[in-house]
Order: sequence, then C-alpha cells, then structure tokens
Amino acid sequence: MPLKIGIVGGTGGMGKGFALRWAASNNNHIMIGSRDATRAAEAAQLYKKEAEELFGGDNSNNLRITGGDNLTVAKESDVLVLSIPYQNIDAVCPAILPHISDDCTVISPIVPMTKTDAGFEFIPFMDKDKKTSHEMVAAHMNSPDKLVSAFHVISEKKLVNPNIQLDYDIFVCGDDDGAVRTVTGLITEIKGLRPILLGSGRLAYMAEIATPLLLNAMIKNKMRNPGIKLV
Ligand SMILES: NC(=O)c1ccc[n+]([C@@H]2O[C@H](COP(=O)([O-])OP(=O)(O)OC[C@H]3O[C@@H](n4cnc5c(N)ncnc54)[C@H](OP(=O)(O)O)[C@@H]3O)[C@@H](O)[C@H]2O)c1
Repeated sequence: MPLKIGIVGGTGGMGKGFALRWAASNNNHIMIGSRDATRAAEAAQLYKKEAEELFGGDNSNNLRITGGDNLTVAKESDVLVLSIPYQNIDAVCPAILPHISDDCTVISPIVPMTKTDAGFEFIPFMDKDKKTSHEMVAAHMNSPDKLVSAFHVISEKKLVNPNIQLDYDIFVCGDDDGAVRTVTGLITEIKGLRPILLGSGRLAYMAEIATPLLLNAMIKNKMRNPGIKLV
C-alpha cells in the first residue's frame, strides 16, 4: 500500500538518501520536513528533479516528493523518519511527536556518537546521564511502541546516490509487530538492503552502537563508508 512518508530534517544528507531511494519504487508520497518550510519545499523540488532524471521515465508524473515544515509533515505521515542529530532530539520532538496519528510508525536512525581522542564513541556509555536515541525519542511519544530504530549502519554517502548498488544489512529494533513490519517493508523496498531483526526497542542501543564501531573500523583500516552484512 502506498505510504505517506514524512522525513523530519529531510534537508540533510540522510533525508535526501531516504527520499531518493524510496522514490525509486515510485510507490510512496515522500514529504520533506524542515524547521523552515521554504527550505523544505526547495529541497523537495531538487530531490524530485533528481529522481525524475534518475528513474522517472513514463512514471515521472507519479513521483510525489513535497516539502513542508516539520509539524505539518509529521501530522500527515503514515511513517515518520526522524532524520535529525542526537543533540537536537529534545529540541525538535516535543513540538512534533504528540501531534502525529496514533497509527504513525516512527523511525529513528539517530546515532548518539561523538569523536574523542580515542576515536568515535557511544555517548550513553561515556556519560551515564545520557540516554540512547531510542529512549530519548520514545519519551516524547504518546504510543512509544510505534517507535522502530533502524538505518544506523548505512552511510549517507551510499544511500544518497541511487546509482551505487547496495548489499548491506540493516538492524531493526522495535516493540510493535505492525510497526516493525512496516519498517522492514520499507528497508526491503530499497534494492540491496536486508532487514535484520535484533529484538525489542530496549535493545536499540545495539543497533545505535554499530555506527561508531563501523566508523572506527573505517578509519583504522582505510575503508570507504563500510556497511554491515551478516553471513
Ligand atoms: N550521515 C550518515 O551517514 C548517517 C548514517 C546513519 C545514521 N545517521 C543518523 O541520521 C540522522 C541524520 O543524519 P544527517 O547526516 O542527515 O544529519 P544532518 O545533516 O546533520 O542534519 C539533518 C537535518 O537536521 C536538521 N537540524 C540540524 N540542526 C538542527 C537543530 N539544531 N535543531 C533542529 N534540527 C536541526 C536540519 O534540517 P533543517 O535545518 O532543514 O530543519 C538538517 O538538515 C542523524 O541522527 C545521524 O546520527 C547518519
């Protein structure tokens, strides 16, 4: 079934990647969200043009990528991706998440990560007062079971260029079977990505921590934007 997918912070690199990859199937209405509605509309127009050039063909009239302010987009979404930095969760979510529909599936790809002298580190392990992204987002939701954590281990650099073939696994954590199914469906819609269930939202830190792991491996072993594949 076609979905209305809102992307809060959709003007960023990950947001563009999600928009282009989900536009490829030409199945969904992608709504780019921003703190600034004009910036969102401009980004949506650019992504739509790029999507039409890449895979529009006869279907280009059906490509639906629009833009709006974060709240307007969130209210209309069947699925809402929170594509914003960890540091801004508490600034953005209280104004948005209480107003989404009860059935809306919320996706968090948010990584609580910082760079130190040692390398990339997981913030909640360094500072016991800091929570995981999943915990922080859930605290702002009326239906926290609709939160699904996913997409931490795919690099924006790979996602954003649909000409790059993907062959990666995406860890998925969530508590509501329907919401998890919706997200695994959207992962599968992106050619070359495979959903790997890890368990409940309580385990989402395991998916979140995979990003600093990957980045440290990337730097120490001189790799380019590695991903994860279970074999
Ligand atoms: N980059 C990657 O390769 C990658 C990979 C896996 C997961 N992730 C995670 O995915 C999320 C998005 O990543 P990204 O690289 O796209 O992030 P980003 O470019 O740094 O930020 C995304 C959007 O967030 C909004 N934003 C920025 N600062 C803000 C603030 N102070 N308050 C409210 N909104 C703000 C901006 O949108 P507006 O200014 O238009 O509102 C911005 O375009 C992050 O949580 C990241 O940890 C990233």
